[in-house]
Amino acid sequence: MFDAISPTYDFLNHLLSFNLDRLWRRAAVKALHVQPDGTYLDLCTGTGDVALLLQKGSEARVAGLDFSSGMLRLARKKAIRSGGKLFLARGNALAVPFRDGVLDGVVVAFGVRNFEDWDRGLSEIARALKPGGRAVILEFSEPGKGPFGCAYLHYFRRVLPFVGHVVSGRPGAYAYLPATVAGFPRPAEVERKLAEAGLGNVFKRTFAGGAVVLYVAERRSPITAVPV
Ligand SMILES: C[S@@+](CC[C@H](N)C(=O)[O-])C[C@H]1O[C@@H](n2cnc3c(N)ncnc32)[C@H](O)[C@@H]1O
Repeated sequence: MFDAISPTYDFLNHLLSFNLDRLWRRAAVKALHVQPDGTYLDLCTGTGDVALLLQKGSEARVAGLDFSSGMLRLARKKAIRSGGKLFLARGNALAVPFRDGVLDGVVVAFGVRNFEDWDRGLSEIARALKPGGRAVILEFSEPGKGPFGCAYLHYFRRVLPFVGHVVSGRPGAYAYLPATVAGFPRPAEVERKLAEAGLGNVFKRTFAGGAVVLYVAERRSPITAVPV
């Protein structure tokens, strides 16, 4: 599915979020506190926007990982244009191809809710982080039931899948988005899952009335992870 929607992915992201997605990604990168000598992973990098932001003006080592070759192809084109030293690889977030405790930070923007096994994905992030290393997760959520929440849900469940279908030419792809958000745990439950995976000191920030949540957590030491 991600291969199929990759050609229109960036355009639809900006259109359907009224360009707010740029702001949310920037906030995620800022929350990672990138150090010039650090090593960072943008998990589920997609077309590479977060990885490129991480790399911008920094000497840090940045890798982007995704299992969609269509998405990675676009990320590679952008990386070449930007002249950066971004390392891009195809791989599964449920088996992060890094040794234990080597990363200073891991960021996942709009990727975690797609995992087949959330607990395993979070444990993998924790495993690859150094003690004290940061995990930053940006993910959709559903706002509460007030007037804004009702208007938003109408937009998210009806308008967005329709526009997504027309522009991408893929009927199911943008119905998948609200369906996976509805099935994803609420922020308090995500916080609990982070803690179970060995990621503590959780800090949350919400955007767009709670439609998007930024979670920032640190790998505890010693790690108490859910077995994978
Ligand atoms: C909604 S896109 C987000 C892309 C990008 N992070 C962004 O901010 O636009 C989700 C991405 O996660 C990737 N993905 C989902 N599950 C994955 C997994 N288990 N391993 C690797 N990549 C995965 C998909 O291929 C897709 O590119």
